[in-house]
Parts: sequence; structure tokens; C-alpha cells
Amino acid sequence: MTALHLAQMLLARIAIAPDPEDGSFWMPPQVSTVAHSVDWLFNFILAISVFFFILITFVMVIFVLKYRRREGQTAQDSPSHNLPLELTWTAIPLVLVIIIFFFGFKGFLDMATPPANAYEVMVEGQKWNWSFTYPNGYVDENLHVPVDRPVQLVMSSADVIHSLYVPAFRIKMDVVPGRYSKAWFEATQPGEYDLFCAEYCGTSHSDMLALVIVHPPGEFEIWLEKASNFLETMSPVDAGRKLFQVRGCTQCHSMDGSAKTGPTLLGVFGRTEQMADGSSITVDENYIRESILEPNARVVAGFEPVMPTYQGRLKDAEIMAIIEYLKAPTGASQEE
Ligand code: CUA
Repeated sequence: MTALHLAQMLLARIAIAPDPEDGSFWMPPQVSTVAHSVDWLFNFILAISVFFFILITFVMVIFVLKYRRREGQTAQDSPSHNLPLELTWTAIPLVLVIIIFFFGFKGFLDMATPPANAYEVMVEGQKWNWSFTYPNGYVDENLHVPVDRPVQLVMSSADVIHSLYVPAFRIKMDVVPGRYSKAWFEATQPGEYDLFCAEYCGTSHSDMLALVIVHPPGEFEIWLEKASNFLETMSPVDAGRKLFQVRGCTQCHSMDGSAKTGPTLLGVFGRTEQMADGSSITVDENYIRESILEPNARVVAGFEPVMPTYQGRLKDAEIMAIIEYLKAPTGASQEE
């Protein structure tokens, strides 16, 4: 039978186990402890769908041909019941959905329950970047994690709903303003993987990207130690430049003179800006500080008051470094 044969071939194709490191035609690489079971269930559901799609289409075409209207034949009354047939098409789907429910629920519980010793990273989404805060207070724009260790993400949003999505880990979780959502994973392979925002959150939603860097054994602690000391080891201008990029300023403020969601900060220090209320201000340390902590207090004319506050999210020393960076006459040209 051709349909059955085709279905068997398709099943065989789909069932080929993907190489965990490269991913398959369908799937990104499997880099977390849950990835295998997620893929297995996906493939199972896909195989069932393909099988029944082909079977039903095939039978339908046969029936359409066989029982089509012909000259000299009149339609007969169809029987109202066929008990064996009805039992069959109830029992088979019932068994299938119970299997799907069992493995789906088991997988859901596994993914919703982090191990007690999980390493915790705080995540904040804002339009349009991610920031990851490590237990020592250091904030990075990428998610760095140790390999073979459970990591729990405690996530919130500064503005609208975002969604943290790491295909290689098979995790996706909404990031909601005003509450904390959680996700956990255990990475199984060192490397760099993509992290996306999977909830439409405005103009630059598709740019809301980050990397997950899975460090080989022992190297995560070394990286964190080194990265955390940047305020001491870098000049204020360099530290300010790093903060400007890491903390999402570049998503809205260019350093090349072009206006984005916010005004360009190229040569902003000392510039006289027209405010939305008609007054004018010469940009100094105090105005920059105010704009970081109370962004909507005095907004430059022609721009919307959409910047989230950095109150409590940037330390004084960090604000000072950003001011020094914006003051530096060559700050912009070095950056690119
Ligand atoms: Cu954040 Cu889409």
C-alpha cells in the first residue's frame, strides 16, 4: 500500500536521532538535559500528525473516486451507526493523547522544578535588550553559565512583556513586568548559543538578542571574577563605554549622530537641547544623571517619554563612568 509505505519512510526519516552538537534538519543542537525529551515528544506528535494526514487524505481521495456521482445511479441512505468503527476511532486517539499527556506533563514538571542547588541569575528584559545579574551583583548583556550545572533564571521586565527563548536549551518563558517568572536549565555542552526575545515587544523586538556562553568546567568562575572588576580595572571612559553597551543604552541612543528612539548622544555634553515643554537646557553632569534616574522629567523635544528609569539599577560609580564616557570628545569614534 503506497500511503502506508510513504508514512513508514517519513517516520523513519523523522526518527533519526539528531546529532546533539550540530542539530538536525528540524532542530537546533541539543544542549540541555531536557532537550532530548522535548525533541522526542515533538517528533512523536509530528509523526502521528503526518501519518494521519496521509492516511485520511488517501482514504478521502479513494472514496471521492469510488463513490462519485454517476449516470444511472441514485444515492442510498447511509447507515446512522457503526459501533465497531466508532469505538475504534475513539479508542485509538484516546490512547495517543494519553501518551502525549503523560510525556508532556512529565516534561512540564521537570522543566518547572529546578534542582535545589541551582545557580541563580537574575534576568531583566527591557525594550530592547537583556541584562543578566550574577550573584555578586555584576551585570552583563550576555548570559554566561557553567557547563553541567543547573542554572535558574529569575526574570522580570522593566516595561512590556518579553519572552526569553534559548532554542538550544529548548526553554522559553515569558518575562512580565511587575512579577517574577522562572526558568531553569542545565547546559551539557560548552559553546555559544543564541538567545532571543520571543514576544513581540515593539520596534526593535527582532534586535533583542543575546548570547548564552556555556563555559567549560572551572572557567565560569574565572570569567566572572575578571568581568566583575571592570570598574576598577578600566578607565572611567572605557568602563562608561562598556556600560553604555551592556546596559542597553545603544538600543535607543546612537553615537554616530543619527536619531533613534532617543536623541543621539554624539557630542551631547555641553550641547544646548530644546525640551518638549519649550525650555532649553545645556547638557551637563546633572542633566545626564537626572536623565538616567528620572528619564521622563525633562524630555528633549521631538522624542517620546519612553525610557525606563535606571534608579536602583546603576550604581553612582557607574553613572559617573557613563558621564565621563559621554564627555569624552573621542568617545564615539573609538567605539565603532
Ligand atoms: Cu522583547 Cu520582543
